[in-house]
Amino acid sequence: METSSHWHEEAWSRIAKKVASTSLRIGDGFPHASVEGKYKLEPASWWTAGFWPGLLWLVYRDSNDEHLRQLAESCENQLDQVILDYDRLDHDIGFMWTLTSVARYKLLGDEQARRRGLLAANLLSGRFNMQGKFIRAWNPWKPGDRNEGWAIIDCMMNLPLLLWATDITGDPRYKHMAVAHADTVLQHFIRQDGSVNHIVEFDPESGERLRVHGGQGYSPDSAWSRGAAWALYGMSLAFRYTGEERYLDGAKRVAHFFIANLPEDHVPHWDFRTPPEVVKYRDSSAGACAASGLLLLARLVKDEERSLYYEAGERMLHSLYANYGAWDRSDEEGLILHGTSHYPEGRNIDVPLIYGDYFFAEGIAQLNGHDDLFW
Ligand code: GLY
Repeated sequence: METSSHWHEEAWSRIAKKVASTSLRIGDGFPHASVEGKYKLEPASWWTAGFWPGLLWLVYRDSNDEHLRQLAESCENQLDQVILDYDRLDHDIGFMWTLTSVARYKLLGDEQARRRGLLAANLLSGRFNMQGKFIRAWNPWKPGDRNEGWAIIDCMMNLPLLLWATDITGDPRYKHMAVAHADTVLQHFIRQDGSVNHIVEFDPESGERLRVHGGQGYSPDSAWSRGAAWALYGMSLAFRYTGEERYLDGAKRVAHFFIANLPEDHVPHWDFRTPPEVVKYRDSSAGACAASGLLLLARLVKDEERSLYYEAGERMLHSLYANYGAWDRSDEEGLILHGTSHYPEGRNIDVPLIYGDYFFAEGIAQLNGHDDLFW
């Protein structure tokens, strides 16, 4: 594909056009993965429920298209069904309410959105394990599951909800929990080489580290690329909120591993460390999330370090735009192709994923000068 020197402006107008068109079919639903060209809708309780309204808010921020605002607000209203459902809520409360209520509050100053965001932050803080200093990931998936001591790297992207709550209320308790969890991640998740564990299991009573689980990665000691993206971006955000240099160092360590392990087209495989017999599908969502995180990181580091992160983020987004974009495909609702949701369980492999679309759009918006993030 030919791209002009203003390729990211062109990319933004294609994103806006495609979202306006797919919104006519998706409406106020909750897409996750696009199968045979159509986004499959999930219940409001699924962890991805925030990404479509988040994408609508990103486009609304630029276009003031009232239709998109109404759809995003309707998605947020539907999340009220979930907020009272103890069994279905997990640590992804952060993803869900940051990109709905917090986004609306940041854009429009809406009071109801502020209250919902704070209620969500309270529920998230209720998952904190004081002995182990981590936020519990999930509830039992099936009767008999014992996962009270499980923490996962994805939660780094849920911490901004707590950090925002402290900013809004002046109450430092939320920040204390976010900092304690982020410190646990530095100690137990981010490895020496900058790769990350997906799941670490602690004894929920004593807080002692028990074992690592491979989770969505190939194995406990492989290097799941989306997990690394969550760590890179989440550590950058933790530094932006707290000013604690150790989080900046953590973000850089993961970024160096990520950048060094990218294949020639700058879009990561789903896991950076798999044996030769495993198919090396790409995960465009990991690339989009890491790229948007790298653009934030570039704004947080010293001037002389900036270009390393900025250029890596821009290269990744450019490749996603030029080589993975579904711009000319009227039979495809996704913005970017070739995401991998859960390889070990064989779910949603080599398809567009709504979080890939969200982070791609967020990254392009950053390249176009939108430094204000919903996180
Ligand atoms: N939070 C689950 C995932 O990254 O797929």
